[in-house]
Amino acid sequence: MSTQQKSFSSSLGAIMAAVGSAVGLGNIWRFPYTCGKYGGGAFLLVYICFVFLIGSVLMMSEFVIGRRAQHTPIKAFQTLCPRHKAWGLLGLLGVITSFFILAQYLVLSGWTTGYVSHSITGQLAALGTSSAPISEHFAQFSTHPVQPVIYLVVFSALVLCVILGGVQKGIENVSKVLMPVLALLILVLCVRSLTLPGAMKGVEYLFSPDFSKLTGEGILAALGQALFSLSVGMGVMLVYGSYIPVNENIFKTAMWITTCDTLIAILSGLAIFPAVFSCGLDPAGGPGLVFCVLPNVFNTMGTAGIVFSVLFFLLLTVAALTSAISLLEVLTATFAEHTRTRRAFGAILLSLLVTALGVLFSMSLGTLSHIKITGLTLFDFIDRVNSIYLPPICALGTVIFLGWMMPDADVRDEFSNHGTLSVPVYGLFRFIARYIAPLALLVVFISGILM
Ligand code: PHE
Repeated sequence: MSTQQKSFSSSLGAIMAAVGSAVGLGNIWRFPYTCGKYGGGAFLLVYICFVFLIGSVLMMSEFVIGRRAQHTPIKAFQTLCPRHKAWGLLGLLGVITSFFILAQYLVLSGWTTGYVSHSITGQLAALGTSSAPISEHFAQFSTHPVQPVIYLVVFSALVLCVILGGVQKGIENVSKVLMPVLALLILVLCVRSLTLPGAMKGVEYLFSPDFSKLTGEGILAALGQALFSLSVGMGVMLVYGSYIPVNENIFKTAMWITTCDTLIAILSGLAIFPAVFSCGLDPAGGPGLVFCVLPNVFNTMGTAGIVFSVLFFLLLTVAALTSAISLLEVLTATFAEHTRTRRAFGAILLSLLVTALGVLFSMSLGTLSHIKITGLTLFDFIDRVNSIYLPPICALGTVIFLGWMMPDADVRDEFSNHGTLSVPVYGLFRFIARYIAPLALLVVFISGILM
């Protein structure tokens, strides 16, 4: 089956599926700790600028390429630029990036799934309110040779089930239900967090920028976070773009997704920072912020804390699920298009492969921690590759392709739905895609390597 016949059934379905991809661990787990690490409010402002200026333009570019070509990444670049078939390599790089990101994402999603179960069984509640046992619990769990692997496999099986359901029945329907649930859950948590004593310090931390805290590294981290959070730079939005109905307004769709994604990131900050400050904890706690700090907060709330703990980790798992689905969809759709085998066959095969790699990454934190590449464990190595190298290169390639290789008339035609929409922003979009975005991405890429 080729991708041509598939599409989302409605604009809401398309938006929900893409929001499902964008909103994930990146918003609820990565954003708060990155924001905390680089100084709070000032980071937030720079992040928002990058999201709307560069991230949204990249998303529109991927939508234009995907919908115009009606193919998965490799063939999409080749179809739109038949004289230079080598551009297909950019598509291939995107697919490889999706594969590595998914393998790493499965490890983190396995942890969140495990924490849902630890919350339900009362294991987390039993740790009390001092930080040491909570951090120790996380360290023991994440480095255990078997436990995280079991949860990883369970999570991965869930992702596979949705993909086997197909684009409309699987991805679209699941996203339409889960995304509103997620928004509701996060609102509930915000209310709880904002009504804790001393919560306003957290709000101030997030909303009153102190530019003296902003470093060059923080600015780069903000751009990296913007790309990751919007799921751009690895072919995901290109494949979803090929499913967007022909009469949909690409600009509006991308702006909706970008806005929802940013709102959820800000709400996550509002759910987490007030709680962190209220308990007198450190907002710059790093990647463990969600796993080591929040159980502490929940445990101060008595029985209600157990409910909030279950809700929170469920929320994280739901968010991770719809993002992981989009990554497996890129792999599945590409495989099906190139091998002309049945979708289900490719989905199962790829899911097995990526799960096996995920297990390896997971074990590299414990049993296999002696295996090192360039002095880093496998997990840290792939984390570096997935944040500094692959996505910025793919993103850079994508805007250069759209801005310099595709004829202006084609881009305008797709952007304006064959001239039926008036799109006054087109000029600005094209200008950013040709000059500003490539320059910014180049700077990020080079500094990422030099750092
Ligand atoms: N955007 C997702 C998140 O915020 C992560 C992701 C990246 C998903 C790339 C798909 C592709 O968690």
